[in-house]
Amino acid sequence: MRLVSGAGQWRTAAEPAIGLRAMVLSDGPAGVRGESWDERRTSANLPSPTALAASFDEALVERLGALLAAEARRKDVDVLLAPGVNLHRSPLGGRNFEYFSEDPVLAGRIGAAYVRGVQGGGVAATVKHYVANESETDRFTVDARVDERTLRELYLAPFEHVWRAARPWAFMAAYNAVNGTTMTESPLLAEPLDGEWGFDGVVMSDWTATRSVEGAGRAALDLEMPGPPRAWGDALLAAVRDGRVPEAAIDEKVRRMLRLAARVGALEGVAPVVPSPPPAPEGDATAALLREAAAAGTVLVRNEGGVLPLAREDLRRVALIGPNIAVARTQGGGSATVHPDHVISPLAGLLAALGDGVEVVTAEGARTRDGLDPLRLEQVRDPVSGEPGVRVRYRDAGGTVHHEEQRFSGRLAWLGEPVLADTTTIEVEALLRVAAPGRYAIGVAGVGPFHLEADGAVLVDEDVPPDEGTEPFATFLAPPERSAEVDLDPDREVTLRLRHTVTPGVQLASLALGMAPAGRSPEDELTTAVAAAAEADVAIVVVGTTEAIESEGFDRRDLALPGAQDELVRRVAAANPRTVVVVNAGAPVILPWRDEVGAILLTWFGGQEFGAALADVLLGDAEPRGHLPTTWPASEADVPVLSTTPVDGALHYDEGVHIGYRAWARAGATPAWPFGHGLGYTTWDHTSLHVSAPPSADAPARLSVALRNTGSRPGRTVVQAYLGRPDSAVDRPALWLAGFAVVEAAGGEETHVALDLPARAFAHWAGADGWQIEGGTFAVSVGASAAELPLHAEIDAPSCSL
Ligand code: BGC
Repeated sequence: MRLVSGAGQWRTAAEPAIGLRAMVLSDGPAGVRGESWDERRTSANLPSPTALAASFDEALVERLGALLAAEARRKDVDVLLAPGVNLHRSPLGGRNFEYFSEDPVLAGRIGAAYVRGVQGGGVAATVKHYVANESETDRFTVDARVDERTLRELYLAPFEHVWRAARPWAFMAAYNAVNGTTMTESPLLAEPLDGEWGFDGVVMSDWTATRSVEGAGRAALDLEMPGPPRAWGDALLAAVRDGRVPEAAIDEKVRRMLRLAARVGALEGVAPVVPSPPPAPEGDATAALLREAAAAGTVLVRNEGGVLPLAREDLRRVALIGPNIAVARTQGGGSATVHPDHVISPLAGLLAALGDGVEVVTAEGARTRDGLDPLRLEQVRDPVSGEPGVRVRYRDAGGTVHHEEQRFSGRLAWLGEPVLADTTTIEVEALLRVAAPGRYAIGVAGVGPFHLEADGAVLVDEDVPPDEGTEPFATFLAPPERSAEVDLDPDREVTLRLRHTVTPGVQLASLALGMAPAGRSPEDELTTAVAAAAEADVAIVVVGTTEAIESEGFDRRDLALPGAQDELVRRVAAANPRTVVVVNAGAPVILPWRDEVGAILLTWFGGQEFGAALADVLLGDAEPRGHLPTTWPASEADVPVLSTTPVDGALHYDEGVHIGYRAWARAGATPAWPFGHGLGYTTWDHTSLHVSAPPSADAPARLSVALRNTGSRPGRTVVQAYLGRPDSAVDRPALWLAGFAVVEAAGGEETHVALDLPARAFAHWAGADGWQIEGGTFAVSVGASAAELPLHAEIDAPSCSL
């Protein structure tokens, strides 16, 4: 019984008597954090899943998966809690940056490539969050009401594809309910997952999502996480003894746990699936791969008059503007957070790429965060070592310091850390020196009793309650703030002392010692930025979202860029026609000025090498070869499926199979940029389409497409094939993606690509009759996006069951 519940936050139980060691689990998808939430345990930070999907490049994603496996091994991690293949049902979905796409075929194919890479390195991948977890509002209780056909064709489809194509060793059951049953007890775990699909791995609960003894015990849920057991444990044992849960159900769970252990090499005497994993990347290989990936996911959506790529030789002065130039967003917030050992900001990337001959003038232009910024290394010294950092001391109930350490951030978090077992007080001490004189707000973010002093003056002394209505994990990630104002001077260091009282053994604790800059007026910020832009050869504005917008445990309130960023872009563009805007957001934001600027690059959260990749793209050393994995709306009012707010506890997926570009097409609405769109630095002509074979019950349809690179640069594009069925007996999407291929060609070159469209792409779910192809003529359209499809043909499909 011990084996079916976790032993700790990130560990399964060991059973030495049978040679079973504990398995270690760690979050992904944008890196492998490992067992502790600590900036000293660094991890490679990949671009966000939206960026990976934007590459449409399965081979690249598989290489990134292999890098994750190497990272997992370095950290003794057996099971990676990724990828997430939920769909972008509404652009308000708070975790969309962490999921691949609004389209089930793209999400499934990229997800499968990710799993192949991870498991090829002998580390288990966990496909999550099974199923219909498309939004965060009331995520623990919301009941997604989805009809069977929609579930099969949209929300289950990427899970099914990943299972069939890449055989993941684990799934994670989501927090939410589907059609009345919470997912950790859902019949969907048995069918289709275990039965029809034949899944033989472990289904674990999302963290704390196991809610009952009998319901979950009888269901095909194999592992309660995290440990120690809350719902199961002794209560499950009692239920088995009384016959409320059959013993055979436990046997099956244990069998699956042992199978997982055998696969990853945690069971003595059984050879793991990958006995000798590929060697870890050496030297600069990790940085080079992450740089390539960030550029590959960057989508160029506008390039008036060929502003990009910038010609180095024409540049004397470059204005680099925006809140994200020096501290870029490389990842979204939430459980997937990792601590990279370095981050290349846009400023650092551009300075390195441009060299000494070009002057780079910078301006923040607009502030996007309201509150405190956690103290950074360059601002603080550890009073004990004298080095950059802060001193942290842990005191027990008797007041004795039982552990102390130097930390490298003002933001500290503990998630199931042993050091808190005997701790009643966490103390943080730091010597702060500001760069410019002024009146600063200094304070703390956290929940519970805090006492903060600056040179002996009390700034905060309060037992801070959580913000009303927020769940504990969201509070852990973004706690409320308290601060007071202090006059500071660069000539004088001030000693900050923070005391935080905690309950010994607490699982979740976090605090941030922070400061808000001395207020320059928003108007001054804008004026300085505009002046910098006016005198430069080119103005590059990096705008984006914040952790308060794209994170976990809540959805987005709206799709606007925060703060005065829209005004900033407008004024800069008015001052310099050569304005390039870089959008550093993990998912769509509304860009009301999009027709007023020279060029727009959508970079998502670019991972640790973001700035280097951005410089490569701006200067044409790399192609921005991404294509949109999700529709980018022009205004919120146009979005066909928007609300993520449950009504009386239920979220009705009433739009059925019509989400994303399918819904835009059906509504006849035009987004800012359609699904699949991406310009790159060359142009393409799709010249011919030929259907070489129709589909059958056991073979795909085959298309042959010719296209020409009509520019002078070599380039890469994504050829996309969509199906439609104008006269159908069933309610069909206006069009749906059936296949795609990445194509490369030299300038002027014509090339041919064969595209296979799986038989499944023609089928619809017909309830008790399963997958059926409705015999007759399907329309196939091929091109560069869901809205730019110059080639058409017809495919006659036979009527058959699959
Ligand atoms: C998230 C999961 C994550 C788990 C462990 C949950 O809150 O929904 O995606 O893997 O926490 O951190």
